[in-house]
Amino acid sequence: MNELHAETTATEDAPLSAYERAAEEGGDPRCIPQYLEEAPPVGSDIATPVYSDEHNQNWRYLFNRQMQLLPGRAGQSYMNGVRLLGMDDTGVPALRDLSTRMEAATGWCIARIPGLLHEKDFFKLLSERIFPSTDYIREKHELDYTPAPDCFHDMFGHMPMLTEPAVADFYHLFGKTALNATGIQRTWLERLHWFTIEFGLIRQAEGLRIFGAGIISSKNEVTHALSDAVDVRDFSMEAVINQDYEVWHLQPRLFALESFEQLEDAFRHWTKKEGLSI
Ligand SMILES: [Fe+2]
Repeated sequence: MNELHAETTATEDAPLSAYERAAEEGGDPRCIPQYLEEAPPVGSDIATPVYSDEHNQNWRYLFNRQMQLLPGRAGQSYMNGVRLLGMDDTGVPALRDLSTRMEAATGWCIARIPGLLHEKDFFKLLSERIFPSTDYIREKHELDYTPAPDCFHDMFGHMPMLTEPAVADFYHLFGKTALNATGIQRTWLERLHWFTIEFGLIRQAEGLRIFGAGIISSKNEVTHALSDAVDVRDFSMEAVINQDYEVWHLQPRLFALESFEQLEDAFRHWTKKEGLSI
């Protein structure tokens, strides 16, 4: 999914359809959170679309561009995940195939969803160990940047990390916890999501590495994230939940984990302290 903050902007009192909202606001309908009207197809129930040559070329261009940048910058778990999921530059992968491989690795499945989801639907799927993903790819004029969700971000950005057991377990717990969160706790969880799943860094023996999907899937964020322009702080729950962020600019401050087990352990401890443990 694309950035969680966007999923929290619509009120639950006004469940208009994406197109109704777009018509009212004059915005891009792909950026408007939608309610799921029925259970989305999961795993082998997902039909694979026939992608045009141009869409497969868009995938190939983006895949090759990022894969030139990522060795030595992305974490080992991420690089392993790309191989494990069988992603390559031949074209847009089939969600059902990715789901089969991911399930074999960590028990996570994939659901095909139409676009940005309302947070309750999003958290509910995570709580069931199901990752919601789009299956359409950005157009040629959006290759450098798109504000809308698309499958390059969802598949290439997110899915490899869900083959890492500690991240898979953390994200499952995150979904279950988020369903129960209220008030300021929701803001805290939004920040945690942002600074880990979307923009997380990790220290490896070889040095600082990227694992967040928002960085991994963006050419500019990849080169920026490990540059001197970023103030990198040690990860702690307290530091992250108290750190506000700006969505529309390159990130000036990021947080580095010591390990993925640190993330899972720290979150589990925090949920107990907050009375949010499952
Ligand atoms: Fe995302």
